[in-house]
Amino acid sequence: MDRRQFLGLSTLAGGLGLVTWQARAASFFNLGQPLDTTGLRTDSARVFDLSVSSGDPSETGVMLWTHIAPEAVRAGEPLFLQVALDAAFQTVLVQVQVPAHEITPERDHTVKLDLHGQLPAMASGGPFFYRFIYDRTVSRTGRCRTLPGSGTASTTLKRLKFGLLTCQDYTNGYYGALAQVAADDSLDFVLHLGDFIYETAGDPRFQSLPFADRTLVLPSGGLVALNLADYRAIYRHYRRDPFLQAVLEKHTFIQIPDDHETANDCYWDTTRDTLGAPDHPYTTDPAYGNSPALLKQLKLDSQRAWSEYVPARVAFDAQATHPHQALGPVYRRFQFGQFLDLNLIENRTYRNAHPCGEDDYFGRYIPIGCNKGNLAGRTMLGATQLNWLLEGLTQSKATWKLMGNQTFFSRLSLSGLAPSLSTFNVDAWDGFAAERALITGALREAKVSNFVVATGDLHTHMASEIKHSFSDINPLNVSNHVGVEFMTPAVSSSALGELLLAKADDTTRKLIIQGLASPLLQQANPHIRCFNSSSNGYSTLEFTDRYTEWVSYTVDKASNSAQAKRRALYRQRKYMDLPWLVPQSTLGW
Ligand SMILES: [Fe+2]
Repeated sequence: MDRRQFLGLSTLAGGLGLVTWQARAASFFNLGQPLDTTGLRTDSARVFDLSVSSGDPSETGVMLWTHIAPEAVRAGEPLFLQVALDAAFQTVLVQVQVPAHEITPERDHTVKLDLHGQLPAMASGGPFFYRFIYDRTVSRTGRCRTLPGSGTASTTLKRLKFGLLTCQDYTNGYYGALAQVAADDSLDFVLHLGDFIYETAGDPRFQSLPFADRTLVLPSGGLVALNLADYRAIYRHYRRDPFLQAVLEKHTFIQIPDDHETANDCYWDTTRDTLGAPDHPYTTDPAYGNSPALLKQLKLDSQRAWSEYVPARVAFDAQATHPHQALGPVYRRFQFGQFLDLNLIENRTYRNAHPCGEDDYFGRYIPIGCNKGNLAGRTMLGATQLNWLLEGLTQSKATWKLMGNQTFFSRLSLSGLAPSLSTFNVDAWDGFAAERALITGALREAKVSNFVVATGDLHTHMASEIKHSFSDINPLNVSNHVGVEFMTPAVSSSALGELLLAKADDTTRKLIIQGLASPLLQQANPHIRCFNSSSNGYSTLEFTDRYTEWVSYTVDKASNSAQAKRRALYRQRKYMDLPWLVPQSTLGW
């Protein structure tokens, strides 16, 4: 069959099986007859230069994504997609045609399809296999999953395993950790907790750039993303990495942005109703005048690029002029039958400014002599998201209640080091302690059991018990124990100690950082059972009908062929009355 016949058949079949589709993803229609796939070209990267990926599973679908290289675009040429039960595409379940007009510079030639309602609900959730075809060229095959445990099988789901990822600064190391996750067949999904990209290209404050082949050039020519073209260029650059492509082809991602998808340490400036971005040139460079309009547009640009390059079922309204209306909400819930509810929260769009000021980089994290992180009324989530979360957690019928989170939820106290110090990082929930207590109080009152938090952001391997009152250290006060938290290490961003020591400009600050790994800190934080901030890697989080088990791995970011070494393993039993994590093996602090 030649190309004209191929297209003719497709168009005819498309007319027979028309399906109306929602505007938030690209439109498509089902094909009534099989595609002829003989003789397809297999030089995939020429057309599908950023390969394929999947995200946001539903019980009957998943979001599928690809990008057409602009130089490969042919006027009037549609895109085809096949989803099958097998990698050889013997049992094809879905075939769709995406009209040519959906491949457009308006979306930077990204194509995002929502297959919700198109795949059969399966107790196993798949896997399914998918590939795109454009201009008689076939993409690489991706593997994806839907939500398992649907329908009558809901009570039979007894195991679920996530890979946890965060902080993948491309310029700061190789993605060996991603290669390891790509090779792990035991994972059901990957939960990416933010900093999928970094908005900077060699910022000397935290990007030391020892990796000559990992540089990044922004269209605007500066060190920090200033507009949509810059954000898009960053996503394209990251998605060219072969290990990132491999992990995105292999696993279905559920992901949420943190600050670096927009700007370092960003928040919502309620006084000026615009983005707060304390380190961004729009704030710091007098040439930009700290303009609220520029900052608001920056947030909108970052949201738009995220919506184009991340296959999440989150709508983006390109006409909206306010970031709180443009995207989302990004926070969202995934229900795995009655086995597990995943509440994915978002820490950066509605949160207040840092409690002790923005000017001093260090003071944003470790304010000396300032306790304002405890002030009532400060919000990390905003009222609407907070109510949504509380309802989701307290009304849940699922055995496990998992919260996907960005910044550390538990307390990290420095009180053992000096009386003038309270907590280590008020950019995290320690800067929103009253709202945290509201959440833990609600969990306690509703007797919510099996609450687990997965966290990113701090470039540290950490396992922690979550207490309603962290100052109550009586281990027998069972009602004070509300859950456990696991922080996955950075894939490639500088480890915390490395990062902060480089910035500590006086002896006191150096001592604080060094003190983080000291027994004094362990004494001040008995709820933290594992703390290691000197290595990169990833972790896995498995839920069974008896326990949840977190395993963290170290992967050397300096080598692109690094192997994973197990760093820590913690297990928490289901309905455990005693509030202790059970370490199976750990290197401790
Ligand atoms: Fe990060």
